Amino acid sequence: MSEEQAETVTYTVENGVAWVYFSRPAKRNAMSPKLNRRMMEVLDELEYRDDVGALVLGGEGTAWSAGMDLKEYFRETEANGLRGIRKSQSESYGWFRRLRWYQKPTIAMVNGWCFGGGFGPLFACDLAICSDDAKFGLSEINWGILPGGGVTKVVVDLLPMRDAMWLTLTGDLIDGKQASAMRLVNESVPADQLKARTAEIANMMLEKNPVTLKFAKDAVRRVGLMTYDEAEDYLVRMQEACNFHDKTEGRKEGIRQFIDEKSYKPGLGAYDK
Ligand code: ACO
Repeated sequence: MSEEQAETVTYTVENGVAWVYFSRPAKRNAMSPKLNRRMMEVLDELEYRDDVGALVLGGEGTAWSAGMDLKEYFRETEANGLRGIRKSQSESYGWFRRLRWYQKPTIAMVNGWCFGGGFGPLFACDLAICSDDAKFGLSEINWGILPGGGVTKVVVDLLPMRDAMWLTLTGDLIDGKQASAMRLVNESVPADQLKARTAEIANMMLEKNPVTLKFAKDAVRRVGLMTYDEAEDYLVRMQEACNFHDKTEGRKEGIRQFIDEKSYKPGLGAYDK
């Protein structure tokens, strides 16, 4: 591992799933410019690999991510003037955006602390699961800034207004069970079950048609900003584009296996790819 890659990100690919980890546990996986640059490279390396059908983003040690690195991301880049600030912003926002529109389904596996800027990648992942003892907080207010870098937008999109406002104004911590009740994550499970449950969810993704998964997840993110008529039109066209890109003609095959072969029931699981 080169100096540029040390204490940033690690990953393995196992049985179709890329397990990517924030890997800076001594600094609670705070996102430094170096980490942000490496994360973009890792996402690049994994995105179109044939042996990767889903991506999990976890954290090593006691944190998922303690947010942006207050020293290296803020103080040191600010010392380089506007050019430095904009560069580090584009590096972090860049990989968050890349992850939001990732080719493969993504799952945040939140094992511990998740603060401030960490809500960016949390939202970028399609699904999120956490341990009961994970801790989430918008600590920005505690050190005198508003939740920037898209974070206010994240909580307003994910949460009811009262919850978004509560987290924003109090900086209070919530644990995994509260985060699940608030729907900040899909599920909260005991820490010793986190990896196994995440693997189960990733495996559910591997059973589905991969072309359709990408169209479907993009549709969920896009239609929220559309009127009903726009969404209706968009979804018709996206399904047609999906049919075009799916060289396996999965849609017809799915119908055939149900109607002609009677080998599965779509209401109960995926067709055999
Ligand atoms: N930026 C820079 N360094 C950090 C960060 C961070 N966000 N979080 C932790 N660290 C460093 C600490 O400075 C410390 O470094 P040191 O060992 O060189 O002294 C090391 O990581 C370990 O941190 P501790 O505070 O000792 O760890 P502890 O487990 O007791 O507490 C906690 C963890 C609660 C996460 C605490 O570190 C903390 O409050 N971090 C800041 C959280 C935060 O407000 N993040 C910014 C959100 S706002 C935004 O992202 C825009």
